[in-house]
Amino acid sequence: MLRTCRGEPVDRPPVWLMRQAGRYLPEYRAVREGVSFLEMCRDVKRSVEVSLQPIRLVGSEAVVFFSDIFVPIEGMGIGVDFAPGPVIADPIRTAEQVAALPEQDAVAHVPYVFEILRTLRRELDPAGIPLIGFAGAPFTLATYLTEGKGDPTREFRVLRGWMERDPEGLRTLLERLADMTIGYLNAQIDAGAQVVQLFDTWAGTLSEPLYREWALPINRRIAEGVERDRAPFILFMNDAPHLVDAMLDVSPDVISVGSSVDLADAAARAGDRAAIQGNLDPEELKGSREHIFQRVRELRDAGRAARGHVLNLGHGCTPDTPVAGVRAFTDAARALADG
Ligand code: CP3
Repeated sequence: MLRTCRGEPVDRPPVWLMRQAGRYLPEYRAVREGVSFLEMCRDVKRSVEVSLQPIRLVGSEAVVFFSDIFVPIEGMGIGVDFAPGPVIADPIRTAEQVAALPEQDAVAHVPYVFEILRTLRRELDPAGIPLIGFAGAPFTLATYLTEGKGDPTREFRVLRGWMERDPEGLRTLLERLADMTIGYLNAQIDAGAQVVQLFDTWAGTLSEPLYREWALPINRRIAEGVERDRAPFILFMNDAPHLVDAMLDVSPDVISVGSSVDLADAAARAGDRAAIQGNLDPEELKGSREHIFQRVRELRDAGRAARGHVLNLGHGCTPDTPVAGVRAFTDAARALADG
């Protein structure tokens, strides 16, 4: 995984899945029982346990620590709850609200995150299994912070209105989120994360000009602020086939593309600029084992033009993802080594 992310030669693509620790696993639901999602994120023992489950239960080859992109937002003094998606107590919609956010060190408010990472690293080191840290990208975080919750229409009217009305105010919010994120990711690296992934799930709802104006400079600021000599940097966007070149212009080590992206085309664009991650549609994990094996061979061939390929989904596992499908996916990756 680490060699692939750095563009060094490997025998076959490594494999892990976004949301691999989640409700589709009965063992996850058992640990999660009786506690809220946020309590679970603060509970080092439970978080470590569910982070490790996908290694044994589905054969994943990397561990992403259990948490959420909204955990450090609490550390910025913004009230967050989950029902089951994030709900913001007092949505942020004006420059005055941004200015009134307390000047505090978000990292210092979430010590349990780093305890989870340190514990995981101790557990994983003997087996040489890599540990992945992550954060939410400012644009994606801002869609929730402004709307107050997820927006199923993906129109993000409040955020789009703010762009028009007061671009400076919104830019200040995005820059504060970026600076928090740089400190947060570097603290994760200090605590043992060996790769970091930035989730810009909703940036694909922007046209290319708007992405270049509102998300690219902010994401590049993060890409430049993260200590990448210590941990390669993956940029994920869902459903953004029109933004592959713009993603590459952020200069990440790896671009992680959604299932609507043609992997061969994206890999050719990435070439020796970046490795590529993806991009099986999670729905395909409901297919037969033969189908999944066939698709993994196709994805491997499609990914060859990039300087490296990490097998993953185009987005995360969902509660109805079949465990057997996830197992078939990782088995298929290992079978690639045999030809
Ligand atoms: O990949 C991983 O397993 C790492 C942990 C992780 C979670 N969420 C765990 C989680 C990561 C990296 C995220 C990212 C995240 N969270 C994103 C960006 C990536 C993406 O998937 O689009 C966003 C937009 C969120 C916000 C969020 N958190 C939503 C919308 C929800 C509810 C959705 C749902 O599944 O019902 C969550 C809750 C959440 N985050 C769960 C998990 C495992 C479900 C937890 C539960 O109820 O037990």
